[in-house]
Parts: sequence; structure tokens; C-alpha cells
Amino acid sequence: MCGIVAVTGYKKALPLLLNGLGKLEYRGYDSAGIAIIHSETKNIVCNKTEGKLKNLINNLSEKNIPGTVGIGHTRWATHGKPEVKNAHPHIDSSGTVAVVQNGIIENFQDLKNKLQKEGIIFNSDTDTEVIPHLIQRELNTLSKLKLENNGSTLLVAVRNVISDLEGSYALAVLWSGAPSSLVVARRQAPLIIGLGEGEFICASDTPAIANFTNIILPLEDEEIALLTPLGIEIYDSNNERQYRNPVSLKVSEQVIDKMNFKHFMLKEIYDQPDTAKNWLENYLIKNSENGQYQIKYPFDTKFLESIARIEIIACGTSKHAAMVGSFLLEQFSGIPTNVYYASEFRYSPPPLLPNTLTIGVSQSGETADTIAAIDMEIKRRSIAGDEKFRPNLIAITNRSESSIGRQVSNIIDICAGIEVGVAATKTFFAQLLSFYGLAIHFAQIKGSQSPDEIKKLITELIKLPPLLEDLLEKHDQSSEKLAHDFFNIKDVIFLGRGINYPIALEGALKLKEISYIHAAGYPAGEMKHGPIALLDKKVPVISIASPGEVFDKVISNAQEAKARDSYLIGIAPECNGTEIFDYLMKIPSSNEWVSPLLNIVPLQLLSYHIAAHRGLDVDQPRNLAKSVTVE
Ligand code: AGP
Repeated sequence: MCGIVAVTGYKKALPLLLNGLGKLEYRGYDSAGIAIIHSETKNIVCNKTEGKLKNLINNLSEKNIPGTVGIGHTRWATHGKPEVKNAHPHIDSSGTVAVVQNGIIENFQDLKNKLQKEGIIFNSDTDTEVIPHLIQRELNTLSKLKLENNGSTLLVAVRNVISDLEGSYALAVLWSGAPSSLVVARRQAPLIIGLGEGEFICASDTPAIANFTNIILPLEDEEIALLTPLGIEIYDSNNERQYRNPVSLKVSEQVIDKMNFKHFMLKEIYDQPDTAKNWLENYLIKNSENGQYQIKYPFDTKFLESIARIEIIACGTSKHAAMVGSFLLEQFSGIPTNVYYASEFRYSPPPLLPNTLTIGVSQSGETADTIAAIDMEIKRRSIAGDEKFRPNLIAITNRSESSIGRQVSNIIDICAGIEVGVAATKTFFAQLLSFYGLAIHFAQIKGSQSPDEIKKLITELIKLPPLLEDLLEKHDQSSEKLAHDFFNIKDVIFLGRGINYPIALEGALKLKEISYIHAAGYPAGEMKHGPIALLDKKVPVISIASPGEVFDKVISNAQEAKARDSYLIGIAPECNGTEIFDYLMKIPSSNEWVSPLLNIVPLQLLSYHIAAHRGLDVDQPRNLAKSVTVE
């Protein structure tokens, strides 16, 4: 959340900053701003606007700010409303220090109270504003020691200040006293330095850097760095200078293009047949000797043989993928598995159990709750001392170069390509596939399924790409028509059972987050225990009814909703029982195990079309951000 870009070098800063911010707008779009050291006056020139980045770009279109050192920010509001006064950069009272920050300063109120007692006047409601004031106060103190005005002095000042900050941050600081220097620091929030030609560009995420260079130096947690056009100095929290080699960005960032689609989300829904093809190519290999398929991982899987139970940590859509995963790992592979909200796990972890595999799932690899929960689990297992409690970790992510990618060494890269729409679609699909891979792998090593059963599941997965293409063709228009009738509804209930219960949750989340319509997902059998009280003719029910173990039960639950006058939409193949639905979104017949991979597609399309019909900003829904880097 919140995107930071900072640059120092020989090139004009403004276009570099705006370009970088454009690539980070998915992190927040409540307001945006830049500050640049004017190359002649050496003063800080700051410009901020409310709303999306385009407002800042328009505001700056006529302005020429000469300068090669600057910082920029795109904000997702935590403290203080999305107004200009709360937009970053924040500047101290003397106008000489400017700061952009991502994260939350938890003790800001105490610090603010102290500064106010000293006579400092605050201009915003943010937690961030304490930082420039504290740095200025520190610089004043250092000036009494007759330290020179240069980058090293700024480095000392920032280091002294961050030692008083509680919470998480990534920050970048400018000081007109050292006009070619930039100081950046991070704690539990990402920051990456790109080594360009004639400039260093520092940003919250790689897309902001990829246009300039593919050589990067990720800053590690608790590190601080001084950047000047001549070089970089990195220090750890003990003030030890750090030396390490830069690394190459693994994938050059793909051209982020909507093609002919109206929104990225629709394009990304349409990418799913390719997502399936990529997964099959990347992760499924046929043994040429015995003709058997195996799952191929880029790490040694020997340690999985001793695993007796699995815990999965994730948030939002990733948690829904994890719930499908948990169903597969228990019911198909026979391994007891629990899924936890990362934000809950950290503060109320389950008792430490032996021989446990911990799986962190995060599309972005930057979700603060998930990072913190994984970190806590690594620490408590490492200090347990006993071999059987050792941390065994896998991360499932779309960004192997992210913080989680660096935190965990066994990575399953879902290889879905950059997802721009804030609502996760193709990455959810790719996360699901990763769990199918794990379930197959565990079923093979634990012998929980016969080779024939495993082969059946693999055959169904191989059939996916054309089925998905067919689904998209069938349901794009039909869901658009349905959206026409439903765009004004107030509440929707999603029902599913067994492996499709998490799909009901995900369907409801998709609808809520982009259309702002209240939606709730329930296990179909649970409806009669309370939610049924909500039903009447104004509340449509979307029921996922895949033939298999619980089909008849789901149909009976749908009957109960129909008896309360709800309009019934079925996500099901055309078969006996589905005539009950007022509207049937037909799904090709498939094995129940793979049904979530098909059922999710019409639900994504329906949410998309309802939101588009309501004229909403589908790709950047209000109050959300693609990467949730605050706890
Ligand atoms: C997805 O549509 C949501 N915007 C959100 O729930 C997301 O899945 C969640 O914030 C977790 O993100 P992550 O996968 O990047 O960790």
C-alpha cells in the first residue's frame, strides 16, 4: 500500500518519478505527489493532488521543474482522509526536508504531542508528518556538532530518527542541505534500488524500476541507504556497512497492456486459458519411461516426505484459494490441513505441532499480514530447538522477487504474469492450480490415492484450456445480460458446499469489492441456521451445484431459497435437478475435484459486468489497493 519512487542521478527527475508512480498506482490511488530539489535554487519544490495520478500529471503538465533528485508517492490512506493536505511528500516547517513513506508509524501520536509542545505546527492528519519534523530537529542538533551539510549527515539524522519510530515503514528523504543525496530506509515494507544508467531509482516494487534497468539491489529489512549519483552506501540496523552484489530482475516486466479490453480485469479473466496452459507446461512433466505424470518443482521436495500436517496462511482471495487447497490436501492427499487468516495467525497461532509444512500464499508477495505471520512462524519454530518442529516452508506467489519470495526459499511461482486489476482473477486461478499440483504430489508420495485416481485428476487438468475458452465465450455475453437485470440489487447470497464453498466466498468477495454490492458466501447447508432470514424476492441466490458428493444437498438448499421467493441463479452443468434454477450459467460436466476451476469463471464475469454496468472503476475500486503492505 502506497507506492514510493525516489531518484538521484544526472537525468531529469520529474519524468522518471511520474513514470515510476504510474507503475505503482495499483498500490494506492487516493492522492499523489512529488518533491524535487530545484537544480538552481536547491530548494525543495513540491506538488501534490488529491485522487488519481492523472490529476498530478495534469497539474504538472505546464510546469518545468529542473532537478535530478526527487521523491514521489501514490497514497492509500491510513491516517487522515484522502485530501491534498494528507498527500505525500510531507515537509518540515523550514521547508528543507521532504519525506515520502509507506507503512504505519504506530507511536506517531506520542511523537506528535512532543513536537507540538516544542512549538511545531502540523499541517496534516497523517502519521508520516512527524518524520520530516524529527529529521529537521535532528539536523539542527547535528549542525551544532559542526558536521558538514552532506549526505552522510542526512544519513545520521535519518538513522537517529528511525530508531525512535515504532511500526513499519519504507521511506525516502530529501534535504536541501545535501541536494544530490537521497536517504532511504525500510522496516517491514518493501524497497528496491535499481541501478540505472546515470541514475539510481528506488521504489516499492519492480515495475517502477523495470523501464530503466533490470539490475536491482533489494534493501533488506531494517536497512538504510544513502544514494548519491556517485554510489550507494547500505547499512544494517547495527550501523554495519553492507556489501552485496546486485541481482537481475528475473522476468523483464511484461508490457502491461489492456489490448482491446475495456478493463484490465476483463482481460485478466480472459487470460485464464493461457494461465492453465502455462501451468501445465511449467509444472507437469511426463516421465518418458513409465508415461506417468509428475509435478515438477524448482526445489528439492525430499523434505515433504516427512510432513504430517499442513498450515496455510493467507489473506483475501489468496485465502479462498488456500481453502480449496486445504480441501484437496485433506480429501485427496489425506493430510490434515488448516487455513488461517494471516492477520489472525500472527496473534493467536495454533499450538506448535511437529512435522508441519507452512504454506504462505500471496499474489503480491508483499502482504504485510502474511509476511509477519510467516516471520513469526519461522522464529517460533526455529527457537523450539527440536528437529521435528523445524520450519518447513513453501510460498505460493506471483512475484518470486517479492519480500515473501526472499523470505521463503521454496517458491512455487504461479507464473500468471502481472495482474493489474485490483480484484484478483487469473492469479486466484493460478494459485488454485498450484494447490492441485501440491495435492497430486502429496497423493503420490503418501499413496493416498491410487495411480488411476491421480491420473484421472491430471487428465481433467490437461483438458482445462479449451473448456475455459468455451466458458468465456458462453458466459461473457450471458453474464452481461444478467448484469443488466441485476446491477441495482442490494444484496446477493452465494452458496456452495465442499470444495466449492470457498468458490462461493470468492464469488461474493469479487462482487463486493468491485461493485460495492453487499454479498455474502455461505456453505449451502448452513443457510438454514440463520442467513435464510435475509431471503426474499429482492435477494437473489447464486448457487454452485457441481455434480458429485453434495449435489443433491445443494439442490435441496437451493429449493429452500426458492421457497422464500429468491431469484435463483445456478452455476452448474445442465442435468437433472438444475431445472430448479431461474437462470442457469452452464458449466461443462467435469470431475468434482476440478469443478472450482470452472465454476469461478462465470462468477468473475458476472461481478465484472455488474460493476461495469454500474459505471464503476473496475480496475481500481474505491478504498482498495493491489498490495496491502500495512497490517
Ligand atoms: C483480491 O481480489 C483482493 N483485492 C484481496 O483480497 C487480496 O487477495 C488480498 O489483499 C491478499 O493479497 P495477496 O494475495 O497479494 O497477499
